[in-house]
Amino acid sequence: MVKGIHWDQGAETWDEMIHDESSPHYHYYRTIDMLVVQLLRDVQARRALELGCGTAECSLYVLRILEDMKDLHIVGVDSSAKMIEIAQRKAKAAGVTERITLKVKEATQLSYPEEHFDAIFSRGAILSYLKRPHKLLRAAHSALKEEGVIGLDVLPQPPEGRDYHIFRSPEIQLTRSKSQSDTSFITVHEVFTRGKYQIVRRYRVQRDTQLYNELKQSFQNLPSHLPGLIEPPKLLLQATVMTEERVRLYTVPEITHAFQKAGFDVTKIYGAGYTLRLLKDEEIRSFVNKHRDIFCRIEILLNALFNLQYATMLFITGRKKSAT
Ligand SMILES: C[S@@+](CC[C@H](N)C(=O)[O-])C[C@H]1O[C@@H](n2cnc3c(N)ncnc32)[C@H](O)[C@@H]1O
Repeated sequence: MVKGIHWDQGAETWDEMIHDESSPHYHYYRTIDMLVVQLLRDVQARRALELGCGTAECSLYVLRILEDMKDLHIVGVDSSAKMIEIAQRKAKAAGVTERITLKVKEATQLSYPEEHFDAIFSRGAILSYLKRPHKLLRAAHSALKEEGVIGLDVLPQPPEGRDYHIFRSPEIQLTRSKSQSDTSFITVHEVFTRGKYQIVRRYRVQRDTQLYNELKQSFQNLPSHLPGLIEPPKLLLQATVMTEERVRLYTVPEITHAFQKAGFDVTKIYGAGYTLRLLKDEEIRSFVNKHRDIFCRIEILLNALFNLQYATMLFITGRKKSAT
C-alpha cells in the first residue's frame, strides 16, 4: 500500500516552491489571489473564511491589498498543524494577528454558526483532494450568509495530448539545488493523467545507479523551466514509489453541477494560468516572469476571450441562493 499525501511534510518548503518562478503556482496562484480580492471587495466582506489556507499566503496577500477594508476579518483553516504553525508565524511577522484567526481544522467539518460568513474562498484545489467534495460544499453553504459568496479553484481535466509530465526533484534541478539530509537518495515526482484523476507519484531513486544517471540525463535535455508542464517521453520509473496521490480533475459541467447541488448559483468560472503556455519562448518567459502581476491582471480581463479548456486552473465563483 502506497501512502497518500501528507501536507505536514511539505509545509516548510511550501512557500519557497510557490514563489519559485519555474513553478506553475508562481503564475496561477497570483491570478487566484486577485480573483479572491475581487470577490471579497464586491461583497464588502467583513467575515471571510479561507479553506485549506496552508501557510496563509493568499489570506495575507488579500489583507495587504484590502488594507482599506478595516472591518474585514479572515478565518483560515487547514488540517495540517505544520502549515498552520507557519501561517501563524507569518501573520505575527506581518503584524495582522488582529485581522486573521488561523486554526487547525478539517474543512469538511466546520463548526461555525449557520450563516456566519459573507465570503468563503480557497486557493490550491482543495476540492480536488477530497474524497467527498460535496461534504465541503455543503459545509461551506451552511456557514455562508444568504447571498454570501464562494470562490475556489479546481484542477480542470486537460485537453487531449497534455496528459503526462514529470516533475524534476529539487536536487536534480541543478540550478536550484538544495542540501538534503539524506544524500544517498533523490526524490522524483511523476505526474500523469488517468481518466478523471491526476496521479502524482513520488519515488525514491538511489544515487549513482543506472536509473539515476538515466533520469539525470533526460532532465538535462529538457528546458530548464516549468518542469510541471513539459511533456518528456514516457518514462516508467523502476524505483520505490513512496507516495501516490490521486487528484480529481473536473470538467466545467461537473463543477457547475456540484456547486448547484450544494445550493449555489454559479456566477462565473475563470481560467487561471493561461500565461504558462507562453513560457516556452525564453524571451517571453523572462518578460512574463518580470511582470507577473500585470499578466495576471490581463489574464483576468481577457477571461471572456479565452477557452476554459486551456486553463491550468479553474476558479469558480457562486452565490448562496436566498431562501425567498
Ligand atoms: C495545495 S495546498 C494549498 C495551500 C494554500 N491554500 C496555498 O494556496 O498556498 C492544499 C492545502 O489544503 C489543505 N487541506 C487538504 N485537505 C484538507 C481538508 N480536508 N481540510 C482542511 N485542509 C485541507 C492541506 O493541508 C494544504 O495546506
